[in-house]
Amino acid sequence: MNTLIVGGTGTTGSRLAKLLPDARVGTRKPVRDGHVRFDWDVPATFDSALEGVGRVYLIPPVGVADPAPVVESFLARARQVRRVVLLSSSAVPEGATGMGALPALVRTMPEWAVLRPSWFMQNFTGDHPVAAGVRDGEIVTGTGDGRVGFVDAADIAAVAARALTDPLPHNTDHLITGPEALSYADAAAILTEVTGKPVRHRSVSTEEMTERFAVGLPREFAAVLARLDEDIRGGAEDRVTTTVEDVTGRPARSFREFLS
Ligand SMILES: NC(=O)c1ccc[n+]([C@@H]2O[C@H](COP(=O)([O-])OP(=O)(O)OC[C@H]3O[C@@H](n4cnc5c(N)ncnc54)[C@H](OP(=O)(O)O)[C@@H]3O)[C@@H](O)[C@H]2O)c1
Repeated sequence: MNTLIVGGTGTTGSRLAKLLPDARVGTRKPVRDGHVRFDWDVPATFDSALEGVGRVYLIPPVGVADPAPVVESFLARARQVRRVVLLSSSAVPEGATGMGALPALVRTMPEWAVLRPSWFMQNFTGDHPVAAGVRDGEIVTGTGDGRVGFVDAADIAAVAARALTDPLPHNTDHLITGPEALSYADAAAILTEVTGKPVRHRSVSTEEMTERFAVGLPREFAAVLARLDEDIRGGAEDRVTTTVEDVTGRPARSFREFLS
């Protein structure tokens, strides 16, 4: 059965593509063998991307307030697809609109899994506001002392690979975390120790965080992101699961291992 990896050039999808080398990588800009043009904004790309495909890794359209209609129309065209694995988030509650509406759509497929990872360790590296803070020596969040079960995207990809290829469908939600819950101050201390470059954490109010996110983002979206920090401050992400080990047979990578 062919697999289509939507978002196959992204943080989780590129790691999944390494684990499933025969899979088709969906991208807006196909540049090599194995790539297929796929663009959520161009529904005409759906049919050719889905041709001969039996399994789909689905990351939702990026930055779309209500992704359900386009995901629904994509799934309606995926008549030969047996299994869909959705990348959702531990921070997204089930709901009628927004990202929260997607799990219910995916559960209508014959076989499915919904991945609910906590915050990615990769946010501390690469192209993310937290990573910019690491480079500046000060990570600014609205998370207070709240702790997060940061998870390596490679571990999310490993769970996705099993959810896509295990003979028996998982047909369940997987809450995925790393092996420990850390505050941003804990993470900054580990970063300082491992890299030798001092990094500290400063927590600000939700209002100040909204202002900071609003530089470069629509205000409404900035407020949503700041509220996610507030949720962390209130303990919403202070938990650890054994999903990575349960599904893949090996433990999740720690933040220290990730940085080393
Ligand atoms: N960061 C976190 O801490 C965190 C935690 C939990 C959940 N999540 C969830 O993770 C998801 C993002 O997944 P990710 O980090 O693996 O991806 P990502 O690194 O954000 O990459 C985005 C991918 O989407 C593709 N893409 C962008 N616009 C597209 C369009 N119009 N049509 C088709 N493809 C498009 C890009 O491919 P091309 O540019 O090649 O087209 C790229 O592969 C989000 O839904 C987020 O809520 C993130």
